[in-house]
Amino acid sequence: MLAPLYDWVDERLKLKPIEQTLLDEPIPGGASWNYVFGSATLFLFVLQAITGMCLSIYYVPSPDHAYDTVQYIENEVWFGWFIRGLHHWGASAVIMAVGLHMLQVFFDGAYKRPREMMWMVGVVLLLLMLGFGFTGYLLPWDQNAYWATQVGINMAGTTPIIGDFIVRLMRGGETLGALTLSRFFAIHVMILPAIMMVGVMLHIFILRRVGPAGPHDKAQAMQGSETFYPRQVYMDAVVMLFVFCILAVLAYTVQFPLADKADPSDHSFIPVPEWYFLFHYQLLKWAPGPLVGYASWALPAAFIFCLFALPFLDRNTERVPSSRPMVMAGGMAFLVTMFVLLGISLRDLYAVPRTDPVIAKGEALVQKFACKTCHRIHGDGANVAPDLSYVADRHPEREWHIRHFKDPQSVSPGSFMPKFPLSDTQLNNLTSYVLTLKSGKH
Ligand code: HEC
Repeated sequence: MLAPLYDWVDERLKLKPIEQTLLDEPIPGGASWNYVFGSATLFLFVLQAITGMCLSIYYVPSPDHAYDTVQYIENEVWFGWFIRGLHHWGASAVIMAVGLHMLQVFFDGAYKRPREMMWMVGVVLLLLMLGFGFTGYLLPWDQNAYWATQVGINMAGTTPIIGDFIVRLMRGGETLGALTLSRFFAIHVMILPAIMMVGVMLHIFILRRVGPAGPHDKAQAMQGSETFYPRQVYMDAVVMLFVFCILAVLAYTVQFPLADKADPSDHSFIPVPEWYFLFHYQLLKWAPGPLVGYASWALPAAFIFCLFALPFLDRNTERVPSSRPMVMAGGMAFLVTMFVLLGISLRDLYAVPRTDPVIAKGEALVQKFACKTCHRIHGDGANVAPDLSYVADRHPEREWHIRHFKDPQSVSPGSFMPKFPLSDTQLNNLTSYVLTLKSGKH
């Protein structure tokens, strides 16, 4: 049924030659699961573009509305929470896919002559991806977004000579505020995507001109080549489907609630950067005072330089890993350092809030008695009763809460908060938890 339609279109657009160039590309050594990372990255990028477009329908990039519109997407828009989840997890997945793709190219020595340009364009694409991550992080305008971006901008400011200029360029104004947000939004949804698309096309154009590198193993390469279609297309498609399923499951099961709305006056907030910036962040924590400045700009600069120059630094024409011990050792050393730092950083992050069991029990009661059907706590819950995020600032006395829980109306005449059937222990636990809800604590 489709064939006559295809013929009709083909007669007018002459598609057959294009179809041949697209599908008949020879793959030296044959199709392989090793080659799926590039197309997985491309797939994830397209998925980010689509989910991002959906989010932009409701999102408003101003400090007055950004947080509320994300909250609205999360709670009100039909399947909004799912689209936001896909976009959130997709952002991490795309960085992982790029990382795996680069590792495969590195391991296979596929960046070597004549593929230096493809590698360098690839490094630019990696930097653009990180740019997407950094600018996107600010957009929800919650505490974490605000303060993590503040740290990032300050770090860029340590660069000698151009530091001040970069800060002014990124921030747009004297402080991080409305101008910064609209700037980051424009970069995230207009400027980066435009550059990215050109870069991706260039990357693929170069790939089609020089052709894929094929296996580093000569015997395997000698086996002749195979066309892109059908086996490689099939493998790529399987991986794309697999990646999509993982993301959908994550988006469905792991909620990613907002923190409190950004409060520029709360300097006590300690932000957490995205996991792919964590290893550098951990390094900065250890850097001795006078060296922090260097660690924040010189290390990334040196790393980016090495990545860029890799095809020229590594002049060995041999592609087999065992014949390139130095380069392999260098790559290994980097990976091990990165994962160890990431591990330590994550351990520190999750070790801190090991809460007192009394408080943990109190927090569980909040779930049990569904307090959040009326109250919001740190961005989660409804807004029909006072926000409890910082209630202990208003009511620091234990007695007040006990009396209030026992009989809300006696403390706040006319309150519609129900009298919960709480035992004395429960009353105690719940109050202990509520007293932790004060500013400067998260
Ligand atoms: C049916 C809605 C509703 C539910 C459910 C509810 N509350 Fe309330 N709560 C209110 C209202 C309305 C007020 C404001 C009047 C008052 O102080 O009683 C309030 C006030 C409070 C206050 C004082 C806030 C302030 O700023 O003065 C605290 C603390 C509190 N609630 C805790 C809880 C806890 C803990 C739970 C769950 C065990 C809970 N609430 C469940 C409606 C609710």
